[in-house]
Amino acid sequence: MVGYLVTGGVGFIGSNFVRHVLNTCDASVTVLDKLTYAGDRRTLDGLDPGRCSLVVGDIADAALVDELVPRHDVVVHFAAESHNDNSLREPWPFVHTNLVGTYTLLEAVRRHDVRFHHISTDEVYGDLELDDPGKFTAATPYNPSSPYSSTKAGSDLLVRAWVRSFGVRATISNCSNNYGPYQHVEKFIPRQITNVIDGVRPRLYGAGANVRDWIHAEDHSSAVLRIIETGRIGATYLIGADGEKDNKSVVELILTLMDRPADAYDHVTDRAGHDLRYAIDASALRDELGWRPAHPDFESGLADTIAWYRDHEDWWRPQKAATEAKYAATGQ
Ligand code: NAD
Ligand code: TYD
Repeated sequence: MVGYLVTGGVGFIGSNFVRHVLNTCDASVTVLDKLTYAGDRRTLDGLDPGRCSLVVGDIADAALVDELVPRHDVVVHFAAESHNDNSLREPWPFVHTNLVGTYTLLEAVRRHDVRFHHISTDEVYGDLELDDPGKFTAATPYNPSSPYSSTKAGSDLLVRAWVRSFGVRATISNCSNNYGPYQHVEKFIPRQITNVIDGVRPRLYGAGANVRDWIHAEDHSSAVLRIIETGRIGATYLIGADGEKDNKSVVELILTLMDRPADAYDHVTDRAGHDLRYAIDASALRDELGWRPAHPDFESGLADTIAWYRDHEDWWRPQKAATEAKYAATGQ
């Protein structure tokens, strides 16, 4: 049985990975999570307590991390401050968790020689022009725009240095925008779905021409597991499922799927430094590791996600008013 330590395993993608591993592998999981505003312990409800336990703590707590790491075979590092808009309002937690936290984990896996997989984002590459036919590859230079993406970029570079200088057994993955159940209502898709449920018009930043490359969280999880099991140590893999959509089209699709007029949304103040377009070339992951997405149809994945938010109001409702109050302060 493989023992996983999953940081940030109460969050949106981390909890999806925990469920995926427990459903598909002979494995046990310890989740290390600080339970910030983005972590609700109810997200792990229903998992077998004999195979999954939660330690509430900070990845930057060196003593705690040093105690937990040697008791596991693999550390999978999802924990992060993850929202661009928050990073523009208050950058420090991003420096603390994404940089100091990742450093703390790297020192522990180095000391105890434990396999490490680092979860990152395509946002480390900056953005592409809307009319650029190109996509990000592992050779694209880093050029992050926001405090979020720059601290994620810094954390990737720390991992690369710890591999090269200290022989840490690590891999890195940079994934595009995820959607699916259990995503915090601050993020684009759940914010608009829950607004529509509340009878509030969706909010589109600027003209809504910005493009994101959407992937279902289940597909992100299966790709991460594939990399952990068969990826080359020291390698970086880009994860994406060819899901490019502009924001306006996504809002229109949400409204249509929720039986509202497709134009029943408002344009609001644009995000400062708003990246134009992200697009992933995942051919290395497909060709070298044979990975394929199981949810390539965005419209049906979105319809399932809308149904999940309709059915799980008890999960998201406690966060909704405070999230909207933060947006109201910036006119968004
Ligand atoms: P999330 O905000 O939903 O969850 C983050 C989790 O980390 C929360 O449970 C939070 O409590 C925990 N956490 C935060 N600071 C911590 C600390 N100091 N110590 C311990 N736990 C802490 O984030 P997410 O969307 O699930 O993202 C997970 C990872 O995937 C992040 O590394 C993010 O950069 C990356 N990623 C996200 C996306 C996306 O579309 N959401 C895309 C690509 C990569
Ligand atoms: P988001 O979910 O914050 O992800 P990221 O910034 O990591 O791409 O936003 C996705 C896109 O949606 C991004 O272009 C910003 C835009 N957006 C809106 O238009 N309205 C909103 O209310 C939010 C939260 C985001």
